[in-house]
Amino acid sequence: MAASTDKAQQDDIIAAAIAFARDFHEKDDTGHDWWHIQRVSKMTERLAEAEGANRFVALLAALLHDVADEKLNESKESGLRRVQSWLESQPVAAADCGHVIEIISTMSYNAGLNPPMRTLEGQVVQDADRLDAIGAIAIARCFLYAGKIGDPIHDPGIKPRDSITKEQYRNEGSTAINHFYEKLLKLKDRINTPSAKAIAEERHRYMERYVTQFHAEWDGLL
Ligand code: ADP
Ligand code: NI
Repeated sequence: MAASTDKAQQDDIIAAAIAFARDFHEKDDTGHDWWHIQRVSKMTERLAEAEGANRFVALLAALLHDVADEKLNESKESGLRRVQSWLESQPVAAADCGHVIEIISTMSYNAGLNPPMRTLEGQVVQDADRLDAIGAIAIARCFLYAGKIGDPIHDPGIKPRDSITKEQYRNEGSTAINHFYEKLLKLKDRINTPSAKAIAEERHRYMERYVTQFHAEWDGLL
């Protein structure tokens, strides 16, 4: 098989990936709805252009990245197999298929414990996904997720945890405001590319203003 996917077939493959991902994420209420995938895909295209990454590979990985999410599958492995078998049903070159699977299997936040992404395409997709967890939309996603798992918006008696294991991150009860300190406000220092860093800084400042205002209102000062 050719080392890279036939250019003439790339648009059709992307269209098929959009249909596949849209169908998979349509009923999701865990913060991985189709609109998240659409925003990450759009940002991936923007960053790939700015950073000179392979648009086809990066966009394909962005569209499929949460199809393999372990929360939406029986296990991480079965999620990856789902993506792999879809890729094999398409005329995607073996090298591109392997690259997309590598990106998807290594990009998750995983409590900040995963090693850096190996390729520029992986860095771009990871940045696009992380940017969706920083800023105004991220604030909305955070409260939606907290509501879904039964966490309160805030509880001064429950302190943010400094370092947490993957299991704690997934399973322990906390609060929406703590999630800002445990993850969201840390993300800007975990961005790979300069183009994404600039966007992250601006969104980060917005979130900082938000939590400052939140605490001031909580204390009845504003
Ligand atoms: P990812 O798969 O990108 O690491 P998650 O699946 O952990 O993201 O989360 C999806 C969205 O929900 C993100 O915006 C994330 O910040 C938010 N989220 C995840 N865990 C929590 C939590 N415990 N409390 C509030 N929001 C959360
Ligand atoms: Ni995602």
